[in-house]
Amino acid sequence: MAITPPTVRIWWKEPIAKVELIWIVIAFIWGLVMFFMMIYWHGAGQQNLSNEAYKTTPEQYAAKANAVVEAHKVRDEAGYPVVHPPAGSDVYLIARLWQWWPILELEKGQTYRVHMSSMDWQHGFSLQPTNINISVHPGYDMVVTMTPDQAGEFGIVCNEFCGIGHHMMIGKIYVVE
Ligand code: CUA
Repeated sequence: MAITPPTVRIWWKEPIAKVELIWIVIAFIWGLVMFFMMIYWHGAGQQNLSNEAYKTTPEQYAAKANAVVEAHKVRDEAGYPVVHPPAGSDVYLIARLWQWWPILELEKGQTYRVHMSSMDWQHGFSLQPTNINISVHPGYDMVVTMTPDQAGEFGIVCNEFCGIGHHMMIGKIYVVE
């Protein structure tokens, strides 16, 4: 029920001006173009992460991460192990309140399967200054295949609010030549 009922009851069947019709057709065609671009770009665009997800548990995941750290630790830095895993290997990153552990050292031009999982609750992996963002959940092993194409020091920030230490939850990835 309308507060003020329309005086012209058949409002949807008014004659339409040619200009308006042209714009409606243009907008409709553009909508179709955008719709099919979404599908096309999902496959052809370079922006998509190559990611997979598996079920795990914090215990299983921590065991794998610890094994890689033990085998390939090269030094310590501010209380964190720096791990230089073999090129092409699986690399494990642990997210927990409130740290990214360990520090990774990767080689430029080599491809790695970077795993990430949380030991407690949800965190967000955000690689700076590149634009890679992944939700990191407990119980899921998120795997991103990446090939660093730039040497340098990259920061990881947590972009999912995870409590009082959220803003201090930062990590590091080195890419060496
Ligand atoms: Cu972890 Cu915010």
